[in-house]
Amino acid sequence: MANSDAEVRQRKPQASSGKEDGSKQGKSRSSKSKIDDEDVYSPWVDIARVLTFFFVASCALSYLISGGESWFWGMQNPPNYLQKSWWENYFRGPIQMTPEELAAFDGKDESKPIYLSINGTIYDVSANRRVYGPGGSYNIFAGVDASRGFVTGCFKEDRNGDMRGVEEMFLPLDDYEVDKHYTADQLRQMRAEELAAAKEKVHDALKHWVDFFAKSKKYHKVGTLKREPGWQGKRKKLCEQAGQGRTPRKLPGAE
Ligand code: HEM
Repeated sequence: MANSDAEVRQRKPQASSGKEDGSKQGKSRSSKSKIDDEDVYSPWVDIARVLTFFFVASCALSYLISGGESWFWGMQNPPNYLQKSWWENYFRGPIQMTPEELAAFDGKDESKPIYLSINGTIYDVSANRRVYGPGGSYNIFAGVDASRGFVTGCFKEDRNGDMRGVEEMFLPLDDYEVDKHYTADQLRQMRAEELAAAKEKVHDALKHWVDFFAKSKKYHKVGTLKREPGWQGKRKKLCEQAGQGRTPRKLPGAE
């Protein structure tokens, strides 16, 4: 123990003297001050490193999540789990709304989501405010069930969900000049077939939009529309535009 103490004591730097010593001392002093300068700790370097890391990581994550659309979270259609309204709907579960309640979600109130209904199912379409919000090309569909308009294309006149009689748009026109070539029985049977085909076309046209919203990644289901019995009211006339595509049935042999 005494020995090792002595060794330690001997290893201590010896006091130096003379010119050589002086220059050595000068050298060691200058290198020491260099080291001291390098050792000065600045928290800003670490802060800059951490911030750079988060910035790069955030850009990379945004790029990955948006499927290459944006480096800066500027996605037009962020995934559902990045949408506040999606989480609200998720935890709230499907709701029932009356047409009057639904009307309040037409986009006029910016603090509220935009809802539309199709065939009685309500969807949140806030992800596309540009199209469904005020001034948007399809704002007419917001806050309402306009299933009829979705099929007839008469957005203003048919801003309702009453599908009764829409099949008329797919029925041939009665035309004496053509129909006189058929017997009464033939005409009766033809009309029945035409009606069935027209109803199927309406079904398909509506289903196209029903599927469009149901399968959309941008929009999500909110709930269903609560309608009173007899909500359709008076039977509506087919709008002019929808009737314009109707033509007389074909002559026998030309069908
Ligand atoms: C029955 C007829 C039609 C219905 C029901 C209908 C419905 C719609 C709907 C619901 C959207 C929005 C889709 C979305 O949420 O992304 C849309 C978009 C669009 N429709 Fe139609 N549409 C019809 C006819 C037409 C016609 C005839 C044209 C062209 C003359 C047209 C042009 C467009 C365009 C350009 C967009 C994109 C809007 C945008 O992103 O700014 N549509 N349509």
